Amino acid sequence: MNFDKVTDRRGSRSVKWDSMESNYGVSNIDGIAMWVADTDFPPPACVTNALQSMVDHNVYGYYGDDTDYKASIQWWMKNRHNWPIELDWIFTTFGLVNAVGICVDIFSESDDGVVLFTPVYHAFARVIENAERKVVELELRNENGHLSMDFDAYDAQMQGHEKIMIISSPHNPGGRVWTKDELLEITAFAKRHDLILLSDEIHHDLVFAGNKHIPTALADPSAADRLLTLTAASKTFNVAGGYTGNVIIQDEILRKKFAKRLAMLGMSKNSFGVEIVRAAYSPEGAEWVDELIAYIDGNRRVFDEGINAIPGLKSMPLQSTYLAWVDFSGTGMSREEFTDRVEKQAKIAANHGTTFGKGGDNFLRFNLGAPRSVIEEAVSRLQAAFSDLQ
Ligand SMILES: Cc1ncc(COP(=O)(O)O)c(C=O)c1O
Repeated sequence: MNFDKVTDRRGSRSVKWDSMESNYGVSNIDGIAMWVADTDFPPPACVTNALQSMVDHNVYGYYGDDTDYKASIQWWMKNRHNWPIELDWIFTTFGLVNAVGICVDIFSESDDGVVLFTPVYHAFARVIENAERKVVELELRNENGHLSMDFDAYDAQMQGHEKIMIISSPHNPGGRVWTKDELLEITAFAKRHDLILLSDEIHHDLVFAGNKHIPTALADPSAADRLLTLTAASKTFNVAGGYTGNVIIQDEILRKKFAKRLAMLGMSKNSFGVEIVRAAYSPEGAEWVDELIAYIDGNRRVFDEGINAIPGLKSMPLQSTYLAWVDFSGTGMSREEFTDRVEKQAKIAANHGTTFGKGGDNFLRFNLGAPRSVIEEAVSRLQAAFSDLQ
């Protein structure tokens, strides 16, 4: 796969490229979109071919037999993550934000607390607040660019009204791949406070050499009675528009509750999304992912080297994901000033760290899932925008 090839996404109704002006005031014409987490890469040929077959057949009725689809998920979890799962553990939602909303609805009530480890993916808080639950922010420690958890501090912050905790594993932003010991601390915390644990593992595939993603379910099998694992092909294969996510549940009681809620909501499968996943979770898809990881690894090296050369800026060393998390606190600038320089001078749309909760204020998140030339252009624009610091 030629990841260097630039595909112009402007005018394709892409939220990332066509809503950059409305969201960040960065021109859709000459701005660089480095915000929302989709990459700019076309999927592997196996996915394109599957969609092409649907178009060639040209009939778009309700989706039926999902055996092959579920078998492909089972294959992927076993082959890529060493996690044996049963077909009837798999439930399909319209993506993972949808899955989080359904879980919050099932496992908590108004004014209950939902625990997040911040800074973390901003949509979690949006879902929790709109469900009229309370966001409980437990701030991650940031020691020299290494995020970690501090459970003694967290125990003291718990108030008793918390019912659910959500982890991002690997973590967005910052790309931490939680170790087995850390995962065991996480599950122990969930048990201590009697919380349902949502392990959002959407970023599990894009992990750099030297790090190993461990499914929470594997790290601690004894947490099964409170654990729901959320996965999707969307980040890995850049197919988020297919709105298809999977919730994998081993425990029978949790499964019954989840199945009932899906039935109540009338949730069925989107045939396009399902076909994309079935085709992607294959040996051909796996080979493509290996190439993608190596390419993104190259992008993060180029980006980090260029950014860390600007005095006052620090890009967190990523263990996974294509989402660079850049600390601007060393510039001594206000949030408004560094953000303004990035948006108005460099003309780059990057996510504001404040939206990720406590601990994100001095950061911006840059999406590195783009051809190398785009990353190089972004680096040189940023160096120019902060050239007075050099
Ligand atoms: C941790 C995490 N969960 C979920 C999502 C989005 O999931 P979906 O598009 O399936 O709703 C993202 C997107 O960036 C994410 O980072």
